[in-house]
Amino acid sequence: MTIRVLVTGALGKMGREVAKTVENEPDMVLAGMVDPRGEGVKKSEVTGSEENDFALDTELTAAIEKHQPQVMVDFTNPKAVFQNAQTALQHKIYCVIGTTGLAEDEIAQLGKLAEENGVSVAVIPNFAIGAVLMMQFAARAARFMPQAEVIELHHDQKMDSPSGTAVTTAKMIAAARKAQPAARADEIIKLAGARGAEQEGVHIHSVRLQGLVAHQEVIFGGLGQGLTIRHDSYDRVSFMPGVVMAVKAIQQHRGLVRGLETFMD
Ligand SMILES: NC(=O)c1ccc[n+]([C@@H]2O[C@H](COP(=O)([O-])OP(=O)(O)OC[C@H]3O[C@@H](n4cnc5c(N)ncnc54)[C@H](O)[C@@H]3O)[C@@H](O)[C@H]2O)c1
Repeated sequence: MTIRVLVTGALGKMGREVAKTVENEPDMVLAGMVDPRGEGVKKSEVTGSEENDFALDTELTAAIEKHQPQVMVDFTNPKAVFQNAQTALQHKIYCVIGTTGLAEDEIAQLGKLAEENGVSVAVIPNFAIGAVLMMQFAARAARFMPQAEVIELHHDQKMDSPSGTAVTTAKMIAAARKAQPAARADEIIKLAGARGAEQEGVHIHSVRLQGLVAHQEVIFGGLGQGLTIRHDSYDRVSFMPGVVMAVKAIQQHRGLVRGLETFMD
C-alpha cells in the first residue's frame, strides 16, 4: 500500500534529501512539503521531477488539509519541531522526527498525544544505521571498559550541541557500565570546558568545522589498552535508508518510539 508522506523543513539540507528519497520510493507518495521559506517554490524545483507537481506550503495545517498525508517527516529546528509534531498528531498523522534538540518533557508530551490520537511518534536521534550499531557496540564495550569519552564532530551550521547521538550514546554507556570510574578529586581545569560537557559521568566533546557532515568517536581506556569505535556519515544520503525504514514501519506502532533500533530489531 502506498504511504502518503509530508516533509516539514523541506527546503533544508535534510528535508531536500528526504523529499527526493520519498519521491523515488515505489511505495511512497510525496504528499506535501512545508517550509516557511517555501513561498513561490514548487516541488519540482527540489526533487527534479515535474510529475504531480505542487507548490510548497509555508504553514503546516494548510498543507495537511490540502494533501491529507499519513506520515510526517520533520527535519526543522529545535524550536519548530514541537509545534509541528503537536499539529500533526492532533490530525492523527504519524510522526517521524529527525530534528534533534527536543526536551525530555516535550518528548513525553508528544508520546502521550500520539497515544490519545491512536497514532505514534518516532523520535530518531540518528537515522544512519551504522551510527545505531556504533551506539550498541559502545554500550557492550562499556560493560568491560567503563572509562569512556565521546567526541562528536559536525558541520559548522549545526545549531545544537552536543548532538542528540552523543547524548544518547553517553546515556547508553552510563546504563551499561556497572560502576562509574571515579573522577580525580585534584583535577585542575585551567580553561572552562576543557573536559567537555558531562552526561551521567560521560564526557562529551563537540567539534564544529566546515567540511564535516556527522561523525562520532567513542574512546574507551583500559589498563594498557584503548578501543575506539568510530562512525562517519560522509553524506546526507547516509540517513535515507533509515528514514525509509521508519516511514514504512511507523504505522505498526502506537505512542512513543525512540531510536531507529526499534525498527531494526
Ligand atoms: N536524526 C538524524 O539522523 C539527523 C541527521 C541530520 C540532521 N538532523 C537534524 O535535523 C534538523 C535539520 O537539519 P538541517 O541540516 O536539514 O537544517 P537546515 O537548517 O538546513 O533546515 C531546516 C529547515 O527547516 C525549515 N523550518 C524552520 N521552521 C520550520 C517550520 N515551523 N516548519 C517547517 N519548516 C521549518 C527552515 O526554513 C529550513 O529550511 C536539525 O535538528 C539536525 O540536527 C538529524
